[in-house]
Amino acid sequence: MLGKKSILDVLSLAKSEVVQILESADSFVDISDREIKKVPTLRGKTIVNLFFEPSTRTRASFEIAAKRLSADMVNFSSSTSSLKKGESIIDTLRTILAMKVDLLVIRHSDSGTVRMADRILDVPVINAGDGKYQHPTQALLDLYTIKKKFGDVSGLKVAIVGDYLNSRVARSNIKLFEMMGMEVIVVAPAMLLPEDFSKMNTAHCIDDVIEDADIIYMLRMQLERQDRKLYPSVREYNRFLSINMERLLRMKKNAIVMHPGPVNRGIEISDELMGLEGEMAGRVVIEEQVTNGVAVRMALLYLILG
Ligand code: CP
Repeated sequence: MLGKKSILDVLSLAKSEVVQILESADSFVDISDREIKKVPTLRGKTIVNLFFEPSTRTRASFEIAAKRLSADMVNFSSSTSSLKKGESIIDTLRTILAMKVDLLVIRHSDSGTVRMADRILDVPVINAGDGKYQHPTQALLDLYTIKKKFGDVSGLKVAIVGDYLNSRVARSNIKLFEMMGMEVIVVAPAMLLPEDFSKMNTAHCIDDVIEDADIIYMLRMQLERQDRKLYPSVREYNRFLSINMERLLRMKKNAIVMHPGPVNRGIEISDELMGLEGEMAGRVVIEEQVTNGVAVRMALLYLILG
């Protein structure tokens, strides 16, 4: 059990806790494959999804995870809340807490908002992505997906490719992958690479790593966080950073392509790779990441509230 612990970033977890979450997720995978996808584990608990920024995967995944554990799940949407009438975020959080809820899942466009919420609330808080800072449950579900594919993750080479400037996924995944003994290669052009990553093992073109990596992890181009054009053109991006069939065929036989979603088709990943079928479909594991996300989030909710 994790106790009544908030999950604010990857470094708030010890390696032993990460192992415990992944092992626990194994037992929750089966529940989603059953005819009746529900267990009474968290009956009587109330969880609130507070999303101040759009989401498809994370929000639905937490909701499904909570419901499969029989918790009551409430979805708060900032666009239809009293924030629109001028209520502050702190008063909004205190109002929700006054309704005697047991756990909050929070996404916000400003880095640090989830940590601020954790300081003023006395229930566990899970960071569902804050600004450019962290997205710890994405990192956990990605690690779980890699573990299911490869077994032992230690020593695996993962090339993380794309927009580091704006990516909370990169910041979380690098920390977690390194904690688990994986080798991370940062692939980005100088204009998408902040100073703090430049001292790592870096490459500027996906071709430099394509034949050697076990995992090619494509970051989403965060177009909504860019107040100016950060890359000359999609054509240039495709030339140096995108994954397509020609590059997939040069990867190791058992190497995989990952992406946190949502994908900008034709920018990070070619249309052709998004529609692979048959044997080749197993090389691009984006849907498996989503499926595994439910089991990992069930494990987290269980270990915090169970
Ligand atoms: N990967 C991810 O966080 O996707 P959403 O924005 O759809 O939740």
